[in-house]
Amino acid sequence: MCSCESPLSARLRQLADAGLTRRRRRLDSPTAPRVLVEGQEMLAFASNDYLGLANHPDIVAALARGAREWGAGSGASHLVGGHLQPHATLEKRLAEFTGFARCLTFSTGYLANLAVTPTLATGRDDAIFADRLNHASLIDAAQLSRARQHRYPHGDMAALERLLAASAAKTKVIVSDAVFSMDGDLAPLAQLFQLAERFDAWLVIDDAHGFGVMGPKGRGSLAHCGIPPHPRVLLMATLGKAAGVGGAFVAGSEIAIEYLLQKARGYVFTTAQPPAIAVAVLKSLEIIAADEARRAHLQALIQQLRAGCAALPWRLLPSETAIQPLLLGENDKAIALMQGLWRRGLWVAAIRPPTVPPGTARLRISLSAAHSAADVARLIDALREMA
Ligand SMILES: Cc1ncc(COP(=O)(O)O)c(C=O)c1O
Repeated sequence: MCSCESPLSARLRQLADAGLTRRRRRLDSPTAPRVLVEGQEMLAFASNDYLGLANHPDIVAALARGAREWGAGSGASHLVGGHLQPHATLEKRLAEFTGFARCLTFSTGYLANLAVTPTLATGRDDAIFADRLNHASLIDAAQLSRARQHRYPHGDMAALERLLAASAAKTKVIVSDAVFSMDGDLAPLAQLFQLAERFDAWLVIDDAHGFGVMGPKGRGSLAHCGIPPHPRVLLMATLGKAAGVGGAFVAGSEIAIEYLLQKARGYVFTTAQPPAIAVAVLKSLEIIAADEARRAHLQALIQQLRAGCAALPWRLLPSETAIQPLLLGENDKAIALMQGLWRRGLWVAAIRPPTVPPGTARLRISLSAAHSAADVARLIDALREMA
């Protein structure tokens, strides 16, 4: 072992001793409820493919057509020479779909989040107000900014109000997941918006898990909560979850988006996504808007799971979304239940600290419109067997 490796090796041992070593599972088939995982056939509740679009034939065909017509790569960053017609069309379509004035697309949601908050809040005179359970990318984004950081207890609007009232910051930015990725609950978006108005703050909303799933036509969590597009709101959503493809976008006012285009490092200093991805997302948006039946079926599965789990000794966290976390508490309990399900041919991810707070290890049951009622019944039966 090289001497510089030995501290890493010690830290890897510590992770293993704490039962926190993670491992990847290799899928030998495309993302779907029924997958081959390392050669074994499994029924999966472990993806964010909430509408079952990741392997939709029309979207796959659009991706192939996009590659034939526009090539494999964009060749440059958007500002240098990599902004192709499909990117421009997708921006326009996403703006129309969300109702915001303008959009920018990004290669990933992680990058989009890193691009937004530190561009709005830059110096010590500025302040960021973030929910404690925000996604890691929003936490990292706040760390990239030199602004003061305030983290309020999850969903606690009274605490947020106190922090905002006590702040003399020049620019205030409130940042929150819309649907919390490991809890599945919805942020109090209407109250967040009211506080942003009252304290003249930006409101940055990450709707990675609501876009496509929530609201009329799948327009997302803001539309679900009846919050119209507003110049003080920036909406980020990913295109690799319900939309089934990849990448992300940020929507906002003409001025806010123009400012991000000029100044956001995560936009300026990175190669634009392959244009074929934009062609595929355009097809996905058509399906998302038109196919209400997928969302209705997903809602029915959510109700079925919640009713079926009501008598279990473990509690499903309150959630009306496709993310249904079964709270176990200790890490080894979550692992044991995950392994028990695995032996029964069911794949559900166990989530442990640091992804969630200590003592709140859980199974993150992720439902998709591609699941059948029989699939969900099989999961409920297996959980009951192990209770
Ligand atoms: C809430 C939230 N925001 C952002 C991201 C990052 O998006 P992406 O996977 O496109 O990088 C994720 C998950 O991946 C997420 O759960």
